[in-house]
Amino acid sequence: MKFNKSLLLYLLFFLLHFNLNAQELTWTEVEPGVWKGVFGVPESYNLLTASGVKPDHQSLKALGTAIFPFAGSPVVAQQLDGKTYLRFPLHHTEQLYGFGLNFQTVHQRGKILELHVDHYGGKDNGRTHAPTPFYVSSAGYGVFINSARYIKVWTGTSMRQESKAFPTPKDRNTDKTWSSRNQSDEVEILVPGTGIEIYVFGGPKTIDAIKRYNLFNGGGYLPPRWGLGFTQRLMTRSTAEEVEQEVDAFKAKGYPLDFVGLEPGWQSKAYPGTFSWDKNRFPQPASFVQSMLDKGIRLNLWINPYVSPDAPFYKEIKPLTASHTVWLGLVPDLNLPKARNLFFNQLQKDQVDIGVSGYKIDEVDGYDYYLWPDVATFPSGISAEQMRQTYGLLMQRYSAEMFKNNNRRTFGLVRASNGGGTSFPYVIYNDYYNHEDFITALINSGFAGVLWTPEVRASKTAEEWLRRFQSSVFSPMAMINAWASGTKPWTYPEVEKQVKEFALLRMRMIPYWYTTFARYHFEGIPPFRAMSLEEGFKPDLQSTAGSANLEENPYAEATAKEIKDQYMAGESLLVAPMFTGQTKRQVILPKGKWYDFYTGVFAGDGQVITATPGLDKIPVYVKDGAVIPMMPALLHAPKSGEKVDLEIRHYGEKETDYSLYDDDGETFNFEQGQFSWRKIRVKRQKNGQLKGSMSPPEMGKPNSIGRVTFKFMTP
Ligand code: GAL
Repeated sequence: MKFNKSLLLYLLFFLLHFNLNAQELTWTEVEPGVWKGVFGVPESYNLLTASGVKPDHQSLKALGTAIFPFAGSPVVAQQLDGKTYLRFPLHHTEQLYGFGLNFQTVHQRGKILELHVDHYGGKDNGRTHAPTPFYVSSAGYGVFINSARYIKVWTGTSMRQESKAFPTPKDRNTDKTWSSRNQSDEVEILVPGTGIEIYVFGGPKTIDAIKRYNLFNGGGYLPPRWGLGFTQRLMTRSTAEEVEQEVDAFKAKGYPLDFVGLEPGWQSKAYPGTFSWDKNRFPQPASFVQSMLDKGIRLNLWINPYVSPDAPFYKEIKPLTASHTVWLGLVPDLNLPKARNLFFNQLQKDQVDIGVSGYKIDEVDGYDYYLWPDVATFPSGISAEQMRQTYGLLMQRYSAEMFKNNNRRTFGLVRASNGGGTSFPYVIYNDYYNHEDFITALINSGFAGVLWTPEVRASKTAEEWLRRFQSSVFSPMAMINAWASGTKPWTYPEVEKQVKEFALLRMRMIPYWYTTFARYHFEGIPPFRAMSLEEGFKPDLQSTAGSANLEENPYAEATAKEIKDQYMAGESLLVAPMFTGQTKRQVILPKGKWYDFYTGVFAGDGQVITATPGLDKIPVYVKDGAVIPMMPALLHAPKSGEKVDLEIRHYGEKETDYSLYDDDGETFNFEQGQFSWRKIRVKRQKNGQLKGSMSPPEMGKPNSIGRVTFKFMTP
């Protein structure tokens, strides 16, 4: 009897201390370098089912295999309290990146976040427009939690008793290095559900894990060429006549313009919307849209999905909507095919079929006080929480289908996305307006599988206007959003000349941007991304002052100051924006030679430099041997079938092989092989001079390239 009692006590002790039901996950390689782990019974509705995307198997295969990152240190899962607890190993030298579109921090180690789709409220607490449950490590792997729940993460914050790396506690009375913030050797994740599906992406480098994640989500979207030009969003309640006038003013003044955005006012009612033209402002929508297209201007229409009693499909869609309303409008249950048909058929026949080129999908992220609450119900049975996490994905997915059905590419705006959203034709924006934080978000977008635009609205000073404008030119969507301000690129006369120069620079760089996005699509490389992903980049460990050679250091990324004000744009450009009030700034150049983008002059090599560009320039540096294909400063992006001359710029000393992507720029025919990669080669000749050549166009493939000249930028 006595023996049994102590055995029981022993068992109880064992259960309490050794988490008997904690389980080591087992992994199956589902794509080369991508492993899936399943614990418990995962929910059938998740981020990947909501987005409905398929892995780009061919491109993943081309990346080759990888070593499984958690071979020696298991990932542990446990079920408790109806929830799933996950533990991922974390070495003290590792830095973490990702966990969605954060605005103020790039380093994500030591954080507690609740990943929740929401507008950005000024704090990196997990509530953001794209709280992608994906992180990557400086050690070269990535983890994706495929859940449409609000999940909570602790990224190395609290030490477990049984940790192998348990340090000696410090005495606060005597030790000045004592800290209230703890470090731990695990990333811990709480999923409110009794099962979960997890994906692990192999390296060896961090960028490889990101590429695999993006390709696993279908690869980035290839925008139409016009999507990479300049876009202006007009003041709310503009009439057809005012739109025509504004578009004409752009032309008369010589400013480029590819698409304009119509904000609330194009519909007969807004907040909630009718999804039908306002016949007072737009008496003849079809001829208006056509007249815009004739001028080379496409239209992008603002919507939010909440349905007004005056919408033509209101009665029919009513039974297929949520229990709760938003601004008293119905919330379509987009998981029901019939609700989708009613909603998108209206958009298709009223707008897309008459030539509208895209949408801005607003307010699908939240603010809790206007969105549906978590106690709302949807007729499909999908919970309000899961709908909140995926509504942006669903709107992107099904609106994109309308354009795909017409074999036309689109490129629009959305305010909510999530894991699974990489291949959708949308760029995220918001109402927040901090220039510095907008750049940090641009950096983080590359870790979250989304695109972000640092849109320009209005500014207190001409200087701020120009600085913001310069940044937007080096982003996925160069845009002024004048919905409330009515600003134009020429609103600040003191800097009108510079603004025009940068708007035209955006146009000249379309061939570079287009190839950059093609590589996002075919190779998964984020077009805009963090410095830490760049070969040869070492954060400055001593200080960010002066010129210091950056030494090799295994702890570098975990201990260094985060770099959130400079980034990589495309293959070879390093952009270091200037903010209002600055006359100089420091720029960390990775190892290897870097050159000034504007002059081709040598700028530095693996060092911290001070840039003093004046008001006229945003500091941009180019990698040694880089090729930057440029076209003339046209006012509209080249149309399908149009040929443009290329000036192929070469920087530095190195010989180069570069591939320039080409296709018709507007349709999905590239998916049937109607594209080519034109080979550009720069070789040093016997006389020491560099010489460039380009492969001929491929027979039977679209060819947008006219006369080609080479320009060797470095003297
Ligand atoms: C906001 C949106 C703005 C603008 C405005 C129109 O929610 O972020 O960019 O579109 O709505 O009401």
